[in-house]
Amino acid sequence: MGERILEIRGISKSFGAVQVLKKIDLDLDAGSVLAICGENGAGKSTLMKILAGVHPADAGRILLQGKEFSPKCPQDALKCGISMIYQELDLAEDLTVMENIFLGCEKTSLCGLKLDARAMREETLALIQANGFELDPDARVADLSVGQSQIVVILKALHDQAKILVMDEPTSALSDKEAKQLFRIIAQLRDQGMAIIYISHRMEEIMQLANRVAVLRDGEMIRVEEVEKITIPEIIRAMVGRELNEFYPPRNAQIGDVVFEVAGLTDHKKVQDVSFQVRAGEIVGMAGLVGAGRTEVANAIFGITPGAGKLLLNGKAVKVKCPSDAIQAGIGYLTEDRKRTGLCLGLPCVWNVTLPNLDKLGMKAVLRLKKEINEAATVANGVHIKWNDAEDAADTLSGGNQQKLLLARWLMADSQFLIFDEPTRGIDVGAKKEVYALLNGLAEAGKAILLISSDMQELFGMTDRMLVMREGRITADLKTAETTQETVMKYGAINMD
Ligand SMILES: Nc1ncnc2c1ncn2[C@@H]1O[C@H](COP(=O)(O)OP(=O)(O)OP(=O)(O)O)[C@@H](O)[C@H]1O
Ligand SMILES: [Mg+2]
Repeated sequence: MGERILEIRGISKSFGAVQVLKKIDLDLDAGSVLAICGENGAGKSTLMKILAGVHPADAGRILLQGKEFSPKCPQDALKCGISMIYQELDLAEDLTVMENIFLGCEKTSLCGLKLDARAMREETLALIQANGFELDPDARVADLSVGQSQIVVILKALHDQAKILVMDEPTSALSDKEAKQLFRIIAQLRDQGMAIIYISHRMEEIMQLANRVAVLRDGEMIRVEEVEKITIPEIIRAMVGRELNEFYPPRNAQIGDVVFEVAGLTDHKKVQDVSFQVRAGEIVGMAGLVGAGRTEVANAIFGITPGAGKLLLNGKAVKVKCPSDAIQAGIGYLTEDRKRTGLCLGLPCVWNVTLPNLDKLGMKAVLRLKKEINEAATVANGVHIKWNDAEDAADTLSGGNQQKLLLARWLMADSQFLIFDEPTRGIDVGAKKEVYALLNGLAEAGKAILLISSDMQELFGMTDRMLVMREGRITADLKTAETTQETVMKYGAINMD
């Protein structure tokens, strides 16, 4: 390991009356990976945002290579070599991959009069290829999947030649293959002397990647340890302050009649001839690689993209031209990308919960705010959302709590058929267990559930059946109890190396 590059001393931070960080001390060495763990809302992202110049600290100091460092804005931090890959991706959606990578440092020709697109494109391509990614430099970011957008952010940081690279849950949206690729890159960057701060809820990743582990709980630094000197159960115990075994709750739902059926679904782009049924009380998983077309199936069913095909709910044909048709018909959809398609980040938490539920509350004529708040708060309490005030904007919540807002929304909507796309992304181990219990509860109440997940263990722990997708088609329909991971991978053509 190299020189000490960063020293954080006594950093404190409050938002309003709530103290989010309490006298944090933390060191970082060049050529090493430091993992930061903690439950949702523990203060991980806030600490990193102080380092990146997004928020000022209330107290304490930061030394960067021995010198006092107090960034006034993100550009300050970037100039000093601190690059940040945020939990909520922030790319310019309307620009291309190349334009995002060169944003703020465009190459020009003719003495600065003209953008040198050719040079930028060549450099982008070289960057993509050198790191073993597959991406079109001219693709618009808005047209990319979450996983692909994440790769753009990583490439941008690489291009900025960061000394310290902060990654806030970088793999939560990547496929196994993409994640493995990222790990290789992280190891490579570390060996070249870069210092990396890595935030993740995935313990195995941390054990594999990190040299040191720091555990935050309720804004306090509980423990910092060499990775060889700590085990996963010890990390989890430090995070939650009690013993907690990760496990999937027992499934008790009675499987009944077919609730949802789709036949011959296509979106004229990716999805081809997709047909399946989901019964009452049944949790059907959908496995496949990122890009296999799973989210596209959900989008076509929910009327987000125009598609053709037959949809039946409780045996009755339904026409879905837009999401509100789908909601009316009794279909709920928790999207995988809470920032882009899930939440209205600037709106109060409570509105984010009640958004598709206004009819139910009798709000067509008048907004009955009190009732809205009460009912949403009850549902939100049920999933243990941490908010200071129901009327605070959704973007003041930690990432995991934002995810729970979406869950609360669809719990309140009481739909017959629910699609959950990566519902446990970015949420801590304790909250994961709550989500699993919730899914089971919904199944026990007779709902039909489609669970799209890239987490193989989650699919095996939670589902009755599994559909495997590859290149826009369903390649297998398997009974979970009678199948193996290898079978699922074979049908999804998941390459594990
Ligand atoms: N801009 C803000 N205004 C008010 N409160 C905020 C703001 N940003 C964060 N908070 C609060 O600070 C606390 C810590 O949030 P933070 O995002 O740092 O958590 P985290 O450890 O990154 O959690 P997660 O694992 O869910 O991402 C939370 O209670 C959150 O609601
Ligand atoms: Mg966070």
